[in-house]
Amino acid sequence: MLFIRKPMSALMKDVESNTELKRSLSAASLICLGVGAIVGAGLFSLTGIAAADNAGPAVTISFIIAAIGCLFAGLCYSEFASMLPIAGSAYTYSYATMGEFIAWIIGWDLVLEYALAAATVSVSWSRYLIEFLIRHDWNFIPYELFTSPFETLTLSNGMVIDNGVINLPAIFIVFVLSYVLILGTKGSAWTNNILVVLKLSVVFIFIIVGWRYMNPANHDPYIIANAGEQAMRNGEIGFWDFLHSDDFGHYGWSGILRGAAVVFFAFIGFDAVSTAAQEAKKPKIGMPVGILGSLIVCTILYVLFSHVMTGLAHYTEFINDAKPVATAIAHTPYNWLQDGIILAILAGYTSVILVMLLGQSRVFYSMSHDGLLPKMFSQVHKKYSTPWKTNLFFMIFVSLFAGFVPVSDLGHMVSIGTLFAFILVCIGVIIMRKTMPEVPRKFKVPFVPLIPILGILVCLLMMSSLPKESWERLIIWMAIGVSIYFLYSRKHSVVRKLEKRKEEKE
Ligand code: ALA
Repeated sequence: MLFIRKPMSALMKDVESNTELKRSLSAASLICLGVGAIVGAGLFSLTGIAAADNAGPAVTISFIIAAIGCLFAGLCYSEFASMLPIAGSAYTYSYATMGEFIAWIIGWDLVLEYALAAATVSVSWSRYLIEFLIRHDWNFIPYELFTSPFETLTLSNGMVIDNGVINLPAIFIVFVLSYVLILGTKGSAWTNNILVVLKLSVVFIFIIVGWRYMNPANHDPYIIANAGEQAMRNGEIGFWDFLHSDDFGHYGWSGILRGAAVVFFAFIGFDAVSTAAQEAKKPKIGMPVGILGSLIVCTILYVLFSHVMTGLAHYTEFINDAKPVATAIAHTPYNWLQDGIILAILAGYTSVILVMLLGQSRVFYSMSHDGLLPKMFSQVHKKYSTPWKTNLFFMIFVSLFAGFVPVSDLGHMVSIGTLFAFILVCIGVIIMRKTMPEVPRKFKVPFVPLIPILGILVCLLMMSSLPKESWERLIIWMAIGVSIYFLYSRKHSVVRKLEKRKEEKE
C-alpha cells in the first residue's frame, strides 16, 4: 500500500474537470517561462566563481557537462509532461508511476529546488542592488540590513559587514513577487516576458560587445594544469589519494567536473515549465517544445557568455568576485554599460524568482488536491483563480531563508535536491515504459533505457562532487518529510480513500 499509484484515468479526469486554472500559455510563452526561470544567478554570479576556483576558462566545458545531464533529464521530463498534461511536475509523474510514497518524497524534495532557489536568487539580487547603490555613492544605507546574520560581506568600496542583521531587500523582492503571482498567472507571464526580453538583450550585448575585446592570452591554456592529476598520470599517486587530496576539483578535469556541479545551478528551472502544464494551451506539444527549447537556447548562450567572460578578464580576477560581469566589462571601452547591465541583472533575477515561486505553489497545489497536504494549499482565489494561500505561505517560508541564511548554503541545497529529483524522474520513465506501454505519448525519449540511465549517471556524478554537509542536510530534510507523510498524508490521501471505498463495496 505504500506504493499505491494514482490511476491514469483519475489523472486525466483531473485535467478535464479542472477548469479553475486558466489555459492561457502558448508554446512561445512556455519557452519564455523556461528561459525566465533558467538565466539568473547561476550565469551572472556562479560562472565567475566556477572559473576562478574550479575550471578556469574551461568553465565552458563545465556548462556543457551540466547541460548534458539536464538534457537527458529534460527528455524524460518531456515524455512525462506530454502524457500527463497536469500541474505538479515530477511529483505528479511519479504518483502515476512509482506510487504515493516516492511521489511524496519528490514533492517534498522539490521544495529544496523551487523555494530555496527563489531564496538563493533573492539573496544574489540584494547583492547586485548593493553594488548599484555603491556605484552611485549611496553609502548612508545601513548595510547590516542587507546581510544575513551568519555571513560576512566585503563590499566593493572596501567596507566589511561582519555578520549582518537581516537581508531586507531579499525579503522585499519575495513579498512583491508573491503579490504579483496572487494577482494571476496571465499577468505574471506577461511581466515575465518583458523581463526575459530585457535580460536576454543584455546577454547578447555582452557577447557581441565583448567578443572583439577578448585577449587570446587569457584562454591559454584553456584547461589549467592540475598537479594531482599529473602525479596520478605519472603513477606517483593512486586515484583514491587524488580524490581525497586538495587538488581534486581545483582545475584540470576534476575541476571541470566540480565546476559542472556549481554551474548546474544555472540550468535549474527548465523543469518549472512542466509545473505549468495545466495552464498550457496545447500541453502535449507545448511541453516538450517548452522544456527542450528553453534548455537548448540557454546552453548556447551560457557557453558563449562564459567564453567571452574568461576571454575579457583572466580567470584569477574572478576570485572572491560577486560581480564577474562587471569585472569583465571593465576590460572593454564600454564601462558606461555597467549601470544598464546591473539593472538588467536585477530584472533578470526577478523573473527567476517569479517562476520558482510559481512552480512551488503549483506543486503544493497538486499535493493538497490529492489530500497529501491540508486543503488550504489547493484553495483557489475566487477572483484571480490562483492558489493564493499557498503563495502567502511560501512568501513567509522563502523570506525566512532569504533573510537569514547565507547564499552558499542555500545554493548547494538547491543543487543536491534538484539532482535527486532528476534521478527519480529518469527512473520513472523506465518504469512507465514497462508498466504502462499502452498510454499514448506525443513525445517519446529515444533509446530507452540508455538515455535515462545516462541521465542518472551524469546527475549522480555531479551530486557526488558536492560537499558532505549538503548530503547531510538532504537526509535531514527527507527525514522530516517522511515523518509528515506517515503522520498526516497517508491518512488523508484521496487515492487511498477511494481505494478503500472500492474494496468495501466489493
Ligand atoms: N537557473 C537559475 C539561476 O541561475 C536558478 O538563477
